[in-house]
Amino acid sequence: MVIEKICCLGAGYVGGPTCSVIALKCPNIKVTVCDKSVERINQWNSDKLPIYEPGLQDVVNQCRGKNLFFSTDIAKGIREADLIFISVNTPTKTFGNGKGRAADLKYVESAARMIADLATSNKIVVEKSTVPVKAAEIIMKILRANTKPGVEYQILSNPEFLAEGTAIVDLVEAERVLIGGEDTPEGQKAIQELCWVYEHWIPAKNILTTNTWSSELSKLAANAFLAQRISSINSLSAVCEATGADVSEVARAIGRDSRIGPKFLEASIGFGGSCFQKDILNLIYLCECLNLPEVAEYWQQVLNLNDYQKTRFTRKVIESLFNTVTDKNIAILGFSFKKNTGDTRESPAIHVSTTLLDEGAKLHIYDPKVEPEQIFYELTNPYITSDPEIVKKNVEIHDTAYSAVTGAHAIVLCTEWDEFKTLDFKKIYEAMMKPAYIFDGRKILNHEALQNIGFHVQTIGKRLSRVGSIRAQGSQTMP
Ligand code: UDX
Ligand code: ADP
Repeated sequence: MVIEKICCLGAGYVGGPTCSVIALKCPNIKVTVCDKSVERINQWNSDKLPIYEPGLQDVVNQCRGKNLFFSTDIAKGIREADLIFISVNTPTKTFGNGKGRAADLKYVESAARMIADLATSNKIVVEKSTVPVKAAEIIMKILRANTKPGVEYQILSNPEFLAEGTAIVDLVEAERVLIGGEDTPEGQKAIQELCWVYEHWIPAKNILTTNTWSSELSKLAANAFLAQRISSINSLSAVCEATGADVSEVARAIGRDSRIGPKFLEASIGFGGSCFQKDILNLIYLCECLNLPEVAEYWQQVLNLNDYQKTRFTRKVIESLFNTVTDKNIAILGFSFKKNTGDTRESPAIHVSTTLLDEGAKLHIYDPKVEPEQIFYELTNPYITSDPEIVKKNVEIHDTAYSAVTGAHAIVLCTEWDEFKTLDFKKIYEAMMKPAYIFDGRKILNHEALQNIGFHVQTIGKRLSRVGSIRAQGSQTMP
């Protein structure tokens, strides 16, 4: 089989960018990205894509209408494809068995059933969504139990390692592509077919092939390791604040050890995003099911520490503001879970905002890329609040950072957007209530300069001397 047509089920953060880059790099392959959401597909076919990702619009513009198509005609997409990616959502279950931990595979199952219903020729079905180990078995069972005469399926696992905000670079210059398949001649042949697609732009040495279960587990393991690094450095940030050490200096020192390496050692208000928490919960659930409670507990601690960090930071904000934020105006700068994305899933800003709202604060939120409806969607979620009306009353979304901070008692910086580094903080100081506070949850601002302006500054993993702010308070006209 030579792959001429690819169909992707699910036009989300994974399916959309991945297939756009495949279309860009494989002009000889027709790539159709399908979604059951008409609104999402319309957005993919418009000038304003449904997700913000640097470089994505450019890639889509180059290929859309040539060999890249976005469509709601799932049946046609499935029928004509040689290879089908399943990139549907796999949220954590909110009810029943495994509630709060296991992945809800209903969308994966329904995608597999659609393929079984509609396919009339051989298909390679590739699991792209992050799934629990052995999810490929579910797809296999459904497809093989419903096989029509003359139709054969090969199921592969090909987890995606892109990070949001850098997705296009991660895809174009992938450090590794991982493909898992069955150890049968047909399974190995399917692996080679998918390798051929990636070899259009990825050096063969960077394409790793494994058995299906290793591939599935590697994705969970990679995310668990990355999250564990963040929890490790965040745990040390608390030690730094208590001792006078500086977590950035500690990270720099330990990162020089080539066995540790310098990446993913930025202490923060905690990790967010759709993957880390979900995947670790998956891993924990898997360990519990396998009767490995010690292993489950080990990974649970990575999540506990992340919750601790978010709580610790928010508590610091409240305590610094004389232990009450009732009716105080607080500017929240950044709402996405990291810079260069409009994605808010599991964003630490949600925890910070909700806690401050519970304490009676009035929030003024600004994020360069998150739509106001999305912010309200997160903050009025029934799992987050019992009183959405209070949230609507006490939250105002702003178009600029300057507008959000005007009249504010404090600024809480939750996302490390570059534009926050170059704000005119003298102007901001003038526009704020005094004493003016800044809580830098991402360690991106120049704290000494802020103190010299007159701000009270707090950050993560570093105890700041109050000398600057005390001096400045005595002379508020200083430059
Ligand atoms: C992650 C993985 O990196 C990616 O390989 C996988 O495919 C999906 O999950 P993503 O969640 O998009 O990607 O972003 P990532 O850059 O990993 O950041 C996750 C969270 O960790 C963010 O909230 C980020 O701000 C935080 N983070 C990251 C830190 O707090 N400190 C760091 O040093 C790095
Ligand atoms: P991810 O971050 O994993 O890409 P998203 O939630 O961004 O997840 O995207 C998943 C997409 O999959 C959604 O747009 C959803 O509408 C779509 N989807 C879910 N089930 C199906 C299905 N059976 N067929 C087509 N699309 C689906």
